[in-house]
Amino acid sequence: MIEGAKEADVVVCDVSPMTRNVISNLRRLVGIVESGVGYDNIDLDAATERGIMVCNVPNFITCEVTDHAVALILALTRKLHQIIPSTRAAEWTWRKFRPIQGLDGKTAGIIGFGNIGRQVAKRLRAFEMDVIAYDPYVSSQAIERLGGKPATLEQLLASSDVVTIHVPLTKETRHLIGKAELALMKNSAILVNTARGSVIDQEALIDSLGKGQIRAAGLDVLAVEPPDPNDPILRLDNVIVTPHIGWYSEESSSRLQEYTALEAKRILSGEAPRNLVNPQARSKHTEDLQCGKRRERGSRTSRKDMAATHSSERHHW
Ligand SMILES: NC(=O)c1ccc[n+]([C@@H]2O[C@H](COP(=O)([O-])OP(=O)(O)OC[C@H]3O[C@@H](n4cnc5c(N)ncnc54)[C@H](O)[C@@H]3O)[C@@H](O)[C@H]2O)c1
Repeated sequence: MIEGAKEADVVVCDVSPMTRNVISNLRRLVGIVESGVGYDNIDLDAATERGIMVCNVPNFITCEVTDHAVALILALTRKLHQIIPSTRAAEWTWRKFRPIQGLDGKTAGIIGFGNIGRQVAKRLRAFEMDVIAYDPYVSSQAIERLGGKPATLEQLLASSDVVTIHVPLTKETRHLIGKAELALMKNSAILVNTARGSVIDQEALIDSLGKGQIRAAGLDVLAVEPPDPNDPILRLDNVIVTPHIGWYSEESSSRLQEYTALEAKRILSGEAPRNLVNPQARSKHTEDLQCGKRRERGSRTSRKDMAATHSSERHHW
């Protein structure tokens, strides 16, 4: 990455690890545009210290991730992952799949009530589910406005039939769901994660699924991506794993590319970016420019100076 991006003023990335080492070796860098929502792959402190602006692209894939989370909830509830292989083997039985519980009147617990969490809440309300939400950064009124009830994490885990995770991966949310939290969940509950794999302690989850402490899990994200082919999470018959595809549709993919390019162009031409996640960096950047430290950089940058570390084979948002 350092070699490929060393002449770049702006780097466009997806899950590429923009570590302190990478950032400190890209001497011309003024901006990093994460082509997606989660920017846990970027060392924000290292970027901010150098006045490097970091932007993400929120909102453009919200509906797709929402649909994917709801699809996992429905598939697990209706046991489609077990029924489909059975009918493919020409079995014609419904009894084998008992018990299946309805969603209507059950409780959905939403962890992280941001853009995606709110859309998931709306969809699950339409399935006549009671919605409760845990998000310490969102007011009770915002949750109640969408027909939900605010809860503590412990209350949510203990009373939900479906738990769905929509938080960013931060120091605070890493392993937010571990052994103790899984032990609070109902044996009949399902857990869905379309946020980031490391929000769940995966070993504790495998243990909990194996013991029947929770019923099933739907995971679009894993602690390590791509996973080791021998990772036991891929083999459990009460788990659906999808390859970090929640963000994707033809429509969202073009929106994302267009918006990412426009954000990079704004930085290159000295305009204010729209989704700066470290606003302190912009003032530092302006100060540095005034001090003449960055005479080499800025609006004279040509198109070739924008390095895309992002590869078409690795679109992970
Ligand atoms: N699977 C995919 O393809 C895919 C695509 C897009 C986003 N994502 C993931 O989904 C996450 C959520 O996306 P979004 O657009 O809803 O983001 P968002 O920023 O709109 O919402 C995140 C919510 O999490 C809350 N939160 C933060 N820390 C929390 C904590 N400790 N406990 C509870 N809540 C907390 C925030 O207050 C916010 O309301 C992203 O950060 C990203 O990691 C995955």
